[in-house]
This record gives sequence, C-alpha cells and structure tokens, in this order.
Amino acid sequence: MTKEYNVGLLGATGAVGQEMLKNLAERGFPVKSLRPLASARSAGQKIEFDGAEVKVEAVGPGAFDGLDLCLFSAGATASQEFAPMAARAGVTVVDNSSCWRQDPRVPLVIPEVNPGAVKKHRGIIANPNCSTIQMLVALKPIYDAVGIRRIVVATYQSVSGTGQKGIEELSTQTRQLLSLQEAAPKVYPHRIAFNCLPHIDVFMDNDYTKEEMKMVNETLKIFDDQNIKVSATCVRIPVFYCHSEAIWIETGRPISPEAARELLARAPGILVVDKPKENQYPLASVASGRDEVFVGRIRADLSHENGLTMWVVADNLRKGAATNAVEIAELLIRDPTLLKTDWPA
Ligand SMILES: NC(=O)c1ccc[n+]([C@@H]2O[C@H](COP(=O)([O-])OP(=O)(O)OC[C@H]3O[C@@H](n4cnc5c(N)ncnc54)[C@H](OP(=O)(O)O)[C@@H]3O)[C@@H](O)[C@H]2O)c1
Repeated sequence: MTKEYNVGLLGATGAVGQEMLKNLAERGFPVKSLRPLASARSAGQKIEFDGAEVKVEAVGPGAFDGLDLCLFSAGATASQEFAPMAARAGVTVVDNSSCWRQDPRVPLVIPEVNPGAVKKHRGIIANPNCSTIQMLVALKPIYDAVGIRRIVVATYQSVSGTGQKGIEELSTQTRQLLSLQEAAPKVYPHRIAFNCLPHIDVFMDNDYTKEEMKMVNETLKIFDDQNIKVSATCVRIPVFYCHSEAIWIETGRPISPEAARELLARAPGILVVDKPKENQYPLASVASGRDEVFVGRIRADLSHENGLTMWVVADNLRKGAATNAVEIAELLIRDPTLLKTDWPA
C-alpha cells in the first residue's frame, strides 16, 4: 500500500495556495490528511480539497503538530516566524517565499535542474522565485551541453505574481478605465491597467530591484556556479497569468539554434513551440493553467558569436510556484529518509 502523509499548507487561501491545493489533488499526491493554515483573518473559512470541504485554521504554536510536511506560501514574514517552528517540530517545510532562499542551510531547488540539492536540507527547502524557475528550466539543458557564461533577461510579469490583490487591482482598474472613471493605484506605485511598470519589489542600492537581484543570486546558487554573469530587467505588465521572458545567453562553446531546439525538445518540463512563420510561439494565453515551461523564438544572437536568444513563458502560479513546490514534496517522499529535520534550536 502507498504510504500517505499528513500535509499542511500555510497560505491556503492565497493565489499560490489555491493552486497548490489543485496541484496536490491533480497529481495524486498521497495525502492522508490536509491541514489548511492561514492568518487569523481566514480562520474558520472553508476551502475545497479533492472534492471535500476543509476548515482553515489560524497558524500559531501547535499548528504543525502531527504533520509530516508543510508547504508554505504566506509571504516572507510568516515564513521567517513559522518555518523554523515547523522544522523544529519535525515537519519538513517547502517554502515558497524569498525568506530562506539565500540561507546556506537551505537548498534552493528546481526538480528538473538540481534535484540532488534536496538531500542537504535540515528542515527547510526553498522554492525559487517564479521568474528564476522558468528561466533555469529552459537554460539547464544548454548549460549542461555547452556551458553558459552570461545571461541577460527582460521579464514581462503578470499581476498574479503579486497574489490575489494584484489580480483584483488589474480587474478593477480595467473596468474603471473602460467606464471612463479614474483608476487610482493601490497595489502598485502607478496604474497597471494599460501600462508597463519597470519596477517589481523594492529598489536596492545598486538601482536594480530586489526581484532582479533574486534572478541573479538564485541562478548562481541553483547552478552552483559563481562565474555566470546575470543581468535582469523585471517588468510588470497588465496580464493576469503567466510570466514571459526574453533571454539572451552567451554560451561557453557555440551551439546552433537547431541543436538547442533539439536539446530543449527532449528535456523534462519543457514544451518547444517554435514555428514563427506559422505564428507558433509561446503565449501567456496558452501557457496559463499548464505546468510546462514553453520555449520558442530560439535564434542566434546577432550581437555575439556564442550568443543565443529565446522567448520563455510559464504559468507563475503553477511551475513558478505551486507545481515546483509539489514536485519538491514528491522528491522528498520518494526517499522517506528525507522527511527528517534537524533545524537548530
Ligand atoms: N504569486 C506568484 O506568482 C508567486 C510565485 C512565486 C512565489 N510566490 C510567493 O508565494 C507567497 C504567497 O503569494 P500569493 O501570491 O499566493 O499571495 P496572496 O494571494 O496574497 O496570499 C497570501 C496567503 O498568505 C496568508 N498569509 C499572509 N500573511 C500571513 C501571516 N502573517 N500568517 C499566516 N498566513 C498569512 C494569507 O492568508 P489570509 O487569507 O489569512 O490573509 C494567504 O493565504 C509569497 O511569499 C510570494 O512571494 C508567489
């Protein structure tokens, strides 16, 4: 008989949390019991899991008792406080926030890219940033084949990346503008409807945003390679679901677009859609609700002899968050010795 697990989900009422619930059910994750957790605001609210209603509980001391593992998707502040609490209670945490990603005790894992890193965990495993996940799934086969020296990326990120409040802001502002009303920004510093904001997360001292620096630093950690040069510009666009990315890479050795296309078509988690003359290329409207990373517009970078460029699209709530976290949980249960924790007191 398949072993089943007591699974917690902190942030169960959020945009990613809701997608995690769907993902656990769709993939047939062996759940013995599910405990949805959120803040006191949502305690008592009922959510649906695999056809049944389950009551949301407020997170706090004792909330993790009896669980085997807990997916966290409630933001960095909640993860900072509650992930060590869960790990010390013997519960393995897969954390979707940015809080622990650069902690040397915490592996940062994309199952298609560095599954082995999961073995080094002590109780907390971090899920990378959504933009990093889709970029590295697409680049890993090329990195393995010919090496990558430099990555330049421009992102086109959907409002669901900001959670439920981002989705509401774009719908409200779109309705307001189409009814000739004022659309005052609440979530973003400027109007997002019919606009593009080159500003995701806060600005750092080097004039890059925190989102951009996440793409830089997470790439180095996941590839375990301090020599790759990465530069990112992250842009929020008025699209509800899916992030798109224009990526330019300088490879270690030359690789033709044809060879890259073939490599990517054979790689796990990737769907190559690349017949531009037939108007076939990755689109947010097509990738929405899907788990694959869509790659197309693969062509030579005219500005560099070892250069390749491509267009990469994935659903930020699925592969960029929920699917990747559930896949990490699947890695853990494949080797039950990995469900042990020794997070320091
Ligand atoms: N959206 C994406 O594409 C994406 C991708 C990758 C990573 N992430 C990360 O995933 C996390 C969740 O994002 P989201 O987009 O799902 O946000 P969201 O829609 O705003 O949902 C936030 C969830 O966290 C809960 N929560 C917030 N503060 C809490 C606290 N102090 N204690 C307990 N629960 C708390 C909320 O519960 P209540 O209902 O009680 O408020 C809600 O369930 C964030 O760390 C985000 O950076 C998001």
